Amino acid sequence: ATMLTAPAFAQDYPSRQMTMVVPFSAGGPTDTVARLVAEKMSADLGQTIVIENVGGAGGTLGAGQVAKAEPDGYTMLLHHIGMATSATLYRNLAYDPLAAFEYVGLVTEVPMVLVARKDFEPADINGFKDYVKANADKLTLANAGIGAASHLCGMLLMQALETPMVTVPYKGTGPAMTDLLGGQVDIMCDQTTNTTQQIQGGTIKPYAVTTPERLPLFPDLPTAKESGLESLEFAIWHGIYTPKGTPAEANERLSKALQAALADEGVIKAMADLGTAPSSAEDATPAALQAQLESEIARWKPVIEAAGVYAD
Ligand code: MLT
Repeated sequence: ATMLTAPAFAQDYPSRQMTMVVPFSAGGPTDTVARLVAEKMSADLGQTIVIENVGGAGGTLGAGQVAKAEPDGYTMLLHHIGMATSATLYRNLAYDPLAAFEYVGLVTEVPMVLVARKDFEPADINGFKDYVKANADKLTLANAGIGAASHLCGMLLMQALETPMVTVPYKGTGPAMTDLLGGQVDIMCDQTTNTTQQIQGGTIKPYAVTTPERLPLFPDLPTAKESGLESLEFAIWHGIYTPKGTPAEANERLSKALQAALADEGVIKAMADLGTAPSSAEDATPAALQAQLESEIARWKPVIEAAGVYAD
């Protein structure tokens, strides 16, 4: 019988246009990170990377599409902490997050800010907490669906205040921000990549940040810990994945392109202006992302189970 050997990995890889799926709407924080790094990865790879926004179900529709894509090295997914929380939140997920993907590397860890529409009554975070507790049944909290970073932060906020609010899900916090700017929704917890310009422009009202230390961009904003909201201390890490079966040589080549993008002065500056910073070269690797996903699934599983919040 002839030996069936795997086709030798094409030495001219990549030799055609590539796709990066973003599992949320265009114009939101995940899309912003994706377009920043894809532009420079494309330059390093010498091939166009087309961004495909596939929103819905808190990012799990887009992730599921990539899980089923051809593992040829030409389709990748850029997703964030939601890849880990969805593993527990969704009990009938179309894919196993720990079996359906190969890993390229970590991209960035983005802080979140608790914000409200610009004319929201409370003057500061303590007033915010009292006001929300007293008016919860009249307030709306926007997020990007169960599994989104904005959902996780909102869930932790409601748990910390022991106050359920009406939540309004969008296909991304890009469209959610439009309604917050218009005053159609009251509160949102979103990433600095989507809130920095609005905060600087005074078109939304910030209350606190989810980082352990205050942000240089917003030195007057208290941290979650200072605000008595210790459980809201977390950053939104982002990673790039490929479908299971994608050759290791492809994932390694993509990781090299990601590391080049993260070392680019323009990317570093753009991220700093949006309150975040690139992951290190060591973290922008397949092994680092795999370790991060595994540990984050384990970290958030008991928190989500304690909240009893599921998407069924
Ligand atoms: C999220 O809440 O997970 C993100 O803000 C969604 C997005 O990038 O639009």
